[in-house]
Amino acid sequence: MKVPGTAAAALLLSATAIATNNLLTADKLEVDIKTEELQNVLWNLNKIATDNGGNRAFGEPGYKASLDFILERAQTRFHREMDTFVQPFNHTYDKTLEIKVTGPEGEDVFVVSPMYNPATPLPGGITARLADTPVDDQRGSGCFPDQWQGVDVTGKLALVKRGACAVAIKLTLAKEHGALGVILYNEEPGTAIAVPTLGAENIGLLVPAAIIPLEVGEGWKTRLAAGEDLTATLLVDAVSETRETWNIISETKQGDPNKVIMLGAHLDSVQQGPGINDDGSGTAALLEIMGSVKQYDGFSHKIRFAWWGAEESGLVGSLYYTSQLSENEADKIKYYFNYDMIGSPEPDGIGPQLLEEYLVSKGKPVTHGGFGTGSDFVGFVELGIPTAALHTGAGAPFDACYHQACDDLDNIHWEALTVNARAAARALANLANSLEGVPARQKTSLNRRTRRGVIQSFQKWAAVAEEASHGHTCSHKGKKQRV
Ligand SMILES: *[C@@H]1O[C@H](CO)[C@@H](O)[C@H](O)[C@H]1NC(C)=O
Repeated sequence: MKVPGTAAAALLLSATAIATNNLLTADKLEVDIKTEELQNVLWNLNKIATDNGGNRAFGEPGYKASLDFILERAQTRFHREMDTFVQPFNHTYDKTLEIKVTGPEGEDVFVVSPMYNPATPLPGGITARLADTPVDDQRGSGCFPDQWQGVDVTGKLALVKRGACAVAIKLTLAKEHGALGVILYNEEPGTAIAVPTLGAENIGLLVPAAIIPLEVGEGWKTRLAAGEDLTATLLVDAVSETRETWNIISETKQGDPNKVIMLGAHLDSVQQGPGINDDGSGTAALLEIMGSVKQYDGFSHKIRFAWWGAEESGLVGSLYYTSQLSENEADKIKYYFNYDMIGSPEPDGIGPQLLEEYLVSKGKPVTHGGFGTGSDFVGFVELGIPTAALHTGAGAPFDACYHQACDDLDNIHWEALTVNARAAARALANLANSLEGVPARQKTSLNRRTRRGVIQSFQKWAAVAEEASHGHTCSHKGKKQRV
């Protein structure tokens, strides 16, 4: 009976070996992340955009299709290993249906509309004299009240250079000084103009605006300085209304539910393009990491993935999620990693130690930056949860296609994306197994104050959205079908 006995022992051994082999380690997750698979995800996201009017934006069918794409994996294919839920929330959807600037010679000018741009009277728009305003590249043009003193923009279209401060600040000051609208000219030459947002919270508070190329704006400025009287027309037709959208939260069934390591990326794009770097790159990294993680066991902590909605409208999905967390639930989140734009063509990394070690070992330059308010980490930082973010740069020279239609498959540096996704996977594996070196959550009164502020923002947005949807029921009968 030796032979069967040996076989049984061998079987037992190999079973043990399988169990041990299946432990989640940084090396295994790293090897599992493959460029071809990341490419496959981004190809799918690009196709979703192409099939749905060119974008995957909040409130648009391309976002819903992106959501379904993630759910097909998280919920359908990985249901044995992952618990997934869809978190609905509402926000003010806005779309410029038409924007037109007609110059002094009756010529149509290339123009870009900011998000949440208010409509002009229709159908004629605003025809008025152009009023030049001083350029101040240091402090930003039209960013401070003193820069508007002695400038007569009353009843006119103010010509203002873009840059340095939020467009909404320039529009607020222009309105205070009696301008009917603002023609902003871009800081960089050419027609590659990134779309800014005026913010849903400013609905009803600003004058209409348009952004034209630097060359055109400077041309008009020169003529105004020479004493010419120039008249232009600005026409904006826009719709805004409340729309429902969704976050996806998917977590491993394994791991201590009281110790959660969380990774987030935003799933929505801007309306202007497919959002393949911003943030298809982070979305793809999370999806591939999830596909790797689900094969392993033995990790101590629960791993939670989040794909955020409406980030481009003001970090809305992640702020909604963090605003809904109880103190107890917030305590359980031991670390949050944010991955937004990690495949820029000219990468410049930001990230702390765990991410950095690996990136440096691969010969990648790493720089450190503050958090700012640029992405979905904000709500977590405000809760005092230890947080890290990796970001390879937005805007020229890092990503010249930032917030534009050309943010497509050609806008990805595949090696940067792969290395960053592997760094993310390794950092996760480390924390999923051990919280050594991770600081505790910081619960300060400051955090609680900002948290109350976030909750108040939601109440404000809801009120504004309510107002906006009523306003548009009157002024845009039959228009909503065109969206
Ligand atoms: C979104 O708004 C709709 C209509 O007002 C409402 O029925 C729904 O409950 C809201 N959803 C959330 C998550 O607040």
